[in-house]
Amino acid sequence: MTERWTPSSWRAKPAKHIPSDYPDMGELTRVENELRAMPPLVFAGEARRLKTLLGNVANGNAFLLQGGDCAESFKEFAADNIRDTFRLILQMAVVLTFAGGKPVVKVGRMAGQFGKPRSSPVEVKDGVELPSYRGDNINGMGFTPEERIPDPQRLLKAYAQSASTLNLLRAFATGGYADLDNVHRWTLGFVDGSPQGARYRALSDKISETLDFMSAIGVTPESHPTLHQVEFFTSHEALLLGFEEAMTRVDSTSGDWYDTSAHLVWIGERTRQLDGAHIEFCKGIKNPIGIKIGPTVEPDELIRIVDALNPGNEAGRLTLYGRFGSDKVEARLPALMAATKREDKSVVWAIDPMHGNTLSAANGYKTRPFDRILSEVKSFIEVARAEGVHPGGVHLEMTGQNVTECLGGARALSEGELADRYHTHCDPRLNGEQALELAFLVAEKLKSDAAEAAFKAAV
Ligand code: TRP
Ligand code: MN
Repeated sequence: MTERWTPSSWRAKPAKHIPSDYPDMGELTRVENELRAMPPLVFAGEARRLKTLLGNVANGNAFLLQGGDCAESFKEFAADNIRDTFRLILQMAVVLTFAGGKPVVKVGRMAGQFGKPRSSPVEVKDGVELPSYRGDNINGMGFTPEERIPDPQRLLKAYAQSASTLNLLRAFATGGYADLDNVHRWTLGFVDGSPQGARYRALSDKISETLDFMSAIGVTPESHPTLHQVEFFTSHEALLLGFEEAMTRVDSTSGDWYDTSAHLVWIGERTRQLDGAHIEFCKGIKNPIGIKIGPTVEPDELIRIVDALNPGNEAGRLTLYGRFGSDKVEARLPALMAATKREDKSVVWAIDPMHGNTLSAANGYKTRPFDRILSEVKSFIEVARAEGVHPGGVHLEMTGQNVTECLGGARALSEGELADRYHTHCDPRLNGEQALELAFLVAEKLKSDAAEAAFKAAV
């Protein structure tokens, strides 16, 4: 018999990457109690709605597009940043919806993505050793002993920032900003300015023609409000379980527990131990759950993880994000996909092409080459097709800002340019142009694969 699940039953399990070195643990408890009394950020019905939409992805009838900062920060918190990342996700969604011929489920890695598991507990700079930066909801990024002390008050600040981010996202999603024509017009501007514009113009022109046709036959935002707004969801890694526990409430409609800090939460590659705290916590909440799947996971282990988190085999409950690296995906992914298929597991298979493709540039900057990111996505689509699995989506670290953190892309960003606008608080993100380019190139791949499939069916 397993013990009964409660929002705090994770506390009896081994928990990695959760700080226990707050100078005053009593203050942490007081803050968590304060959070328990705060309004939920999302409500259960919305999380159920996302689960339904992800169920469509699991069944092959939709795509998932998820993206945002590696780590949100207090310093970069600004309406313009939120707006630009939201706009970027929509632009990419239009391109992918058109190319794939399927709706795109739009999920921000936003409004709560603060905490970071770190590979080393300490950072050494010029012979000085300090505790690592662990995310703005735990400690500060500045390289001073004071900033690196974990401070519970930061959780309250993160909650407040998440609430106002979400408020703005909701306004953008339904207030007119997300209008399809608008979004496409921005993309035309990008195509005009891109060194690779000619390559993207064929597809963007087709979208323009389609929109003109729709409006000519009377499919307008007035007659079809859906053209004017989007459903937009939030997500983050469920890392700081004390915070997640405090946000977990019983839904009065269903009597079930929901983590109301975001619509979807995921478990990271570093905290996915079957007997660990993070899986224990996620077992009991009814939100859609994600889990990162790295190059060391074996098929039988994967099936045990899937069974632990989705014992009812419910479509949309579980999203698997492969994150292997462009050099490992072809060796590791086929057996994993074959296993979920053979065992009839209803899951969304998505790819995180960021975390397996990080390297240090000669000048010390942590970066990611655009070509490797694209290559991992393409391999993912090819492997999925070969295994008869739906390539369900992509999970990206990206920002609408014009940062210089990832190498390559149409502007061939070089190592020497990384220093120009390297703003990330953790991992390097695709900038707005690089992310939109990636959407166009993935669209090309989806189109060419569809054409190939049609050709094979015809001969
Ligand atoms: N509401 C539809 C959808 O979400 C169409 C739509 C409106 C749309 N604005 C959009 C799609 C912006 C993508 C991006 O699919
Ligand atoms: Mn990251």
